[in-house]
Amino acid sequence: MPISSASQTSGTALRALADARGFSIGAAVQSGLIADEPVYAETLAREFNMVVAEWEMKMDPIERQRGVLDFTGADAIVAFAAANDMAVRGHALVWHGATPAWVERSNMTRDEAMAYLRTYIHTVVGRYRGRVMAWDVVNEGISDQGGMRRTVWYNLIGEDYIEMAFRWAHEADPDALLFYNDYAAEGMNSKSDAVYELVKGLLERGAPIHGVGLQMHVSLSDFGRFGWLSAEQIAQNIERLGALGLQVHITEMDVRGVSGAGTPELLEQQAQVYYDVLATCLQAEPCTALLTWGFTDRHTWIRPFFGPADAAPLPFDEGYQPKPAYDALAQALTEAGVSD
Ligand code: G3I
Repeated sequence: MPISSASQTSGTALRALADARGFSIGAAVQSGLIADEPVYAETLAREFNMVVAEWEMKMDPIERQRGVLDFTGADAIVAFAAANDMAVRGHALVWHGATPAWVERSNMTRDEAMAYLRTYIHTVVGRYRGRVMAWDVVNEGISDQGGMRRTVWYNLIGEDYIEMAFRWAHEADPDALLFYNDYAAEGMNSKSDAVYELVKGLLERGAPIHGVGLQMHVSLSDFGRFGWLSAEQIAQNIERLGALGLQVHITEMDVRGVSGAGTPELLEQQAQVYYDVLATCLQAEPCTALLTWGFTDRHTWIRPFFGPADAAPLPFDEGYQPKPAYDALAQALTEAGVSD
């Protein structure tokens, strides 16, 4: 359904709309911003019922120096969530993008690497047992071509590092939902086929995997007539993952293609993408959460990474004011109807 040009929502916060539907709506956060910007913390607590650490629960910030573990940021985020009755997604236990330099340089044997990784996972997951409801156990383990990504963990341990990581995480917190998370695997393509085969194989071997995270870092050009992605493809992908008994989370959504304050046309296109993705998730029983990667254009990873031309990818603007994308999320939640 097209989004309304003017907000038709009742002005109810996203969190209240999501709570009434038993749905998780969240955002990636940074502990320093929670501490330093009151409006950041206030907006988070008002609008979201779930948070995920944008970087502070990864191996590099936690164990930058071997044997010296720093949980300061992660603890602060978990404490903020508890104080505001918010769920926490853990991100990410194993990721080549946040592996400490000492690991990359190490000459660990396979057994030493397995022993280290098992201890690390048990330490981190065990610390937050009962306080982190889901973990991205392995992030981006599939290459863009669809094969196994040749990460340091693949090279040190072999392909079965993924299954081992899931089993170790489950040992540490049997109640946590365990996810495989990746990008550019949201629709129906060779990479999402590879993700499907990976998780299907894990299930067939009895590995404790409960869901797949679709990161949803997209741009306006990915959709539409000449794009590679559509709501229909996302729905089809969610359906096949659900048929395996898995949950799906939209884990890191942002929509590039709008710079600065944006034009009305681009802001509406961006809103339509947010609407289409959330409506697709809400209509699919396996899809139980949508998180944006950050929530205000004031703090987005996109700007330093992609440059100023893509610096307005989120539902709130630089001044924490809701954009049409916010209204679109509210409209999709409103239309989803209250759960019984
Ligand atoms: O702000 C701190 C600063 O206070 C500190 O002194 C400094 C020390 O290194 O770190 C600064 O934090 C940086 C942080 O971003 C906040 O800007 C970290 O260095 C930097 O590593 C971190 O980068 C994060 C990146 O993952 C690597 O962890 C990005 O925020 C984060 O958006 C990005 O997120 C990834 C997902 O995990 C996986 N999917 C792709 C996504 C985007 O790349």
